[in-house]
Amino acid sequence: MAGQMKVLFLSPEAVPFAKTGGLADVAGALPDALKRLGVDVRLILPHYREVWTSKSKVYLIFEDLKVPFGKDLLTARVWESQTDGGAPVYFIKREDMFDRPNLYGNAYGDYYDNLERFSFFCHAALCLAERISYSPDVIHCHDWQSGLVPAFIKGPYAGNSVVGQSKTIFTIHNLGYQGIFPAEKLSITGLPKETFFQTDGLEFWGNISLLKSGIFYSDSVNTVSPTYALEIQTDEYGLGMEGILQQRKSSLHGILNGVDYKVWNPACDTHLKAKYTPENISGKNSCKEFLVKEMKLNQSLTSKPLLGMISRLDTQKGLDLLVKVLDDILALDVGLVVLGSGDQSIQEALGKAVKKNPERFGLTIDFDESLAHHIMAGADMFLIPSRYEPCGLTQMYALKYGTIPIVRNTGGLKDAIATFNPKTGKGTGFKFTDYKPEAFLASIRDAINQYHKADSWKKLRANAMKEDFSWNRSAKSYLRLYRSTLKVK
Ligand code: ADP
Ligand code: GLC
Repeated sequence: MAGQMKVLFLSPEAVPFAKTGGLADVAGALPDALKRLGVDVRLILPHYREVWTSKSKVYLIFEDLKVPFGKDLLTARVWESQTDGGAPVYFIKREDMFDRPNLYGNAYGDYYDNLERFSFFCHAALCLAERISYSPDVIHCHDWQSGLVPAFIKGPYAGNSVVGQSKTIFTIHNLGYQGIFPAEKLSITGLPKETFFQTDGLEFWGNISLLKSGIFYSDSVNTVSPTYALEIQTDEYGLGMEGILQQRKSSLHGILNGVDYKVWNPACDTHLKAKYTPENISGKNSCKEFLVKEMKLNQSLTSKPLLGMISRLDTQKGLDLLVKVLDDILALDVGLVVLGSGDQSIQEALGKAVKKNPERFGLTIDFDESLAHHIMAGADMFLIPSRYEPCGLTQMYALKYGTIPIVRNTGGLKDAIATFNPKTGKGTGFKFTDYKPEAFLASIRDAINQYHKADSWKKLRANAMKEDFSWNRSAKSYLRLYRSTLKVK
């Protein structure tokens, strides 16, 4: 269709193909929301081993895509699939780079050749666009793994007849992952040192930062909530990138993520034992009974407050606070269910607490999509004590499931949750600001007090379930950002 905007999405993960966190949820849903607004959007992902096991249908389309790698050209195969909404998804396949048990690394750390892997991915994406003659108006890059693309477009691909004129947008999903590699590796990217390895470039304290590359060279930058867009310009949250972010202030935007209510909605959630709606919430009790049984907790907890948490076990997520208040929480005559995977020392600290309190504290160390849905539905309250949170999706899922969020007042948690005021009956959850165990515990106590006041709790739950964070609103904001970026000279 003439005049249709073309957007090429480059993400290192997307549901249902490969996922480690919220970025996958975003990259899996936003393309379809944009497509519904009339955008011709296509997604490019690495072909990890997980893509096979995700049971998605994929077809081989090219066997011999030639891709720059240092001074060489390597061959990639390209496979194709579709999003639910029918947008094309292309996978860059090379066994030696992507056919591994995990996406970015294992329990011992990141894969040693991540720069090689993602430089290859970025080049391959642009070569593929050329091969299929898809000339995008906008290339929308996500996180450090695609951070080289804006530099490539300003450098080696500037004169390319297919992608050379494309505008680039770089979305920061998490400033904590900066894609840092030794300076000696620059030659692998093919970018000339004199022009690119500079303070005004992708140099970061003597190293290469692919995150900085994305921030510096893109035409527009955004992050995933308005509050985080402001926070990351400060010393406290900038993680060393505050200077470059302040420099790009006039092109830096904050767009709150949306939620895919086809997947996260208790009215149609296929994982659940019983479905429920704001009008008829009785199924939530059955979900709670199921969860208590499934986690082998004391049966009496079916009539007591049940707190849930689903999280990457990472210092970002405030698990040290949780560990510090665990005994106090459990002394409040409540139950707690935690699902998480990640950091070994956090796993051990939680494991110790479970041994002390196996009847009240259920812990699953795993990445378990189905259990995540059972916790979302079966718990009464949902804990997110993050140190920082670019957006956070689970607080928005929790709202829809009538599972009241107790969150730290930061980033997207601040933007998505309004503190409940029992006097006015307004608000959707509980927030605390100081990153201190006492502050977290005080919020949990407030929530438990309200839980025991049946009318208040009913009102609060109704408010929460009424909230609407569907993708449509965020997709419109992205469309506006694409349009304004197209005007950038
Ligand atoms: P982040 O991307 O920082 O991890 P988000 O809140 O944006 O945080 O997204 C987390 C996503 O990952 C949610 O969909 C959540 O349900 C899911 N998730 C996190 N940990 C697990 C786990 N152990 N098992 C299943 N799903 C998980
Ligand atoms: C990141 C952030 C999280 C955000 C997600 C999707 O992983 O930690 O806050 O919701 O990306 O944008």
